[in-house]
Amino acid sequence: LSQGPLVGKRVLVTSGPTHEPIDPVRYIANRSSGAQGTAVARALRALGAEVVFITGPAAVRPPEGVEVVPVETAQEMEAAVLAALPVDAAVFAAAVADWRVISPTDQKLKKSKGGVPDLKFAENPDILKRISNLEAGRPSLVVGFAAETNDVLENATAKRVRKGCDWILANDVSPATGIMGGDENAISLIRDVGAETWPRMKKDDVAARLAQKIAQALTDLDRS
Ligand code: C5P
Repeated sequence: LSQGPLVGKRVLVTSGPTHEPIDPVRYIANRSSGAQGTAVARALRALGAEVVFITGPAAVRPPEGVEVVPVETAQEMEAAVLAALPVDAAVFAAAVADWRVISPTDQKLKKSKGGVPDLKFAENPDILKRISNLEAGRPSLVVGFAAETNDVLENATAKRVRKGCDWILANDVSPATGIMGGDENAISLIRDVGAETWPRMKKDDVAARLAQKIAQALTDLDRS
């Protein structure tokens, strides 16, 4: 695209779940479909941005016109994010697994009499936190998501500070909302100036609204 407020801007978007291997045929994953991250990447592209789309194994197809970097694990996602820098803005919509299995086996684990595997876990890197706290090469705008099931605003406001990112899009993913895996989302946008709650809308509309706000913020930063 040669037109739009984000022409000349490079942005990265993480999306989808990660898969953390247990052995060659098994993994630990989560219910993220990648729908919201994919919609964000598409909306940023539609405003003219050059988009690097770093995606775990998602249920939905990546958008057209973006650079797709497929990854599987959190560690691969972190490496791909670092390799994509520098960017003007980064949106972390991936549902990164908090833990990985230490030393997944090369061979399929076998059932054995009277035993279950003794899996040991390690903490995965927090990619959003790492990028938010970069001394050199931090994107001008770092945006995270916070999927919560309770005390959404309180938890997300604390998360914004803890992670060091600029904005958090908080959403309630309680099963009753149907948001995880569905095509709607209900967002509160949390910034240093406070929180604003958006009406429940399609994930595509959330993405369009976020992309507009990112374009506005980057334009304001250019002017200041
Ligand atoms: O801490 P929590 O997982 O709730 O934070 C969610 C936000 O942090 C999302 O933007 C997610 O993409 C990002 N994140 C990350 N790396 C992790 C965990 C979360 O980038 N290991």
